[in-house]
Amino acid sequence: MKKEINGKTKIIGIIGKNIENSLSPLIHNQIILKHSLNFCYLPFQVAETDLCKVIQGIKALNIRGVNITFPYKEKAIKFLDEVEESARRIGAVNTIVNNKGALTGYNTDVIGFKKSLQEDGKFVIKEKKAVILGAGGAARAVVYALLEEGIKEICIFNRTLEKAKKIKQDLSSFFPKSRIIVFPLEEEDLKDKIEKAHLLVNTTSIGMAPRVDNTPLPDEKLFHPNLLVYDLIYHPAKTLFLKQAERAGAKIINGLPMLVYQGMESFYLWTGFKPEGEEVLEMIEKITQIA
Ligand SMILES: NC(=O)c1ccc[n+]([C@@H]2O[C@H](COP(=O)([O-])OP(=O)(O)OC[C@H]3O[C@@H](n4cnc5c(N)ncnc54)[C@H](OP(=O)(O)O)[C@@H]3O)[C@@H](O)[C@H]2O)c1
Repeated sequence: MKKEINGKTKIIGIIGKNIENSLSPLIHNQIILKHSLNFCYLPFQVAETDLCKVIQGIKALNIRGVNITFPYKEKAIKFLDEVEESARRIGAVNTIVNNKGALTGYNTDVIGFKKSLQEDGKFVIKEKKAVILGAGGAARAVVYALLEEGIKEICIFNRTLEKAKKIKQDLSSFFPKSRIIVFPLEEEDLKDKIEKAHLLVNTTSIGMAPRVDNTPLPDEKLFHPNLLVYDLIYHPAKTLFLKQAERAGAKIINGLPMLVYQGMESFYLWTGFKPEGEEVLEMIEKITQIA
């Protein structure tokens, strides 16, 4: 195991607003140690007013790349030199790579979500119906992943309807065979759409620690046993949303597999080395006791 930092160590890291509880530094530095790679992954707590300077600073400091997290995934785009096509369509980046002073943005949340759904959830997306709660940056990646795999229908429910409408407007023309319908976060339509859905995904931050008594669904009777229920939150490991879904007999997945798999894709973009996602997931579950 390589433990020292030297003059050749390459810096990677994460930029966000409240990143004290982020698991990404732990995940990436564990891989670096395990495989004796000369990299170091650092957390950068950044105020919104400094975002432009900080992204320019990636070039100035010759940082190899960073993850971008809440709430900068959409805001970071305008400071980049290039944006990979799917990330541009989604309108959000979670990874920046510095290639000799040129910054390119990627969205590895798409592949992270898809892999966790298909491998951990054993879910076949094609021709299915999904209900998505939320319309922020993470929802955009989730919707894109489902559309890419040929989902039949996606119903997006969000407190701010305009944001759900914007996702539909930005993405539907690329996937004309799939239907996107948008709703405000209200019980009547939720009941009807969840009843007919195969997949229910919480992409809102409702239920995340420390506010663990909150849940985005107004009534736990809306869950049913034929649903795969997915919460992007991983802290706590089992949100109230997932506890209620499990009680109703639904299969559940939390946000940890997605976090690990998207992280492995970013790691590969920076280092050219791709660790086995399942192996890393097992290691992180053991260290954090999150499973
Ligand atoms: N597991 C992973 O790898 C992974 C990856 C990405 C994100 N995430 C998680 O996903 C969540 C969302 O992240 P994001 O980047 O999409 O954040 P975001 O862009 O800020 O979006 C937050 C979403 O939550 C909704 N929301 C927040 N508080 C609400 C409330 N009190 N009532 C109703 N709706 C509320 C927002 O609705 P409005 O539009 O009405 O404000 C919006 O739809 C976070 O918990 C994040 O940790 C996990």
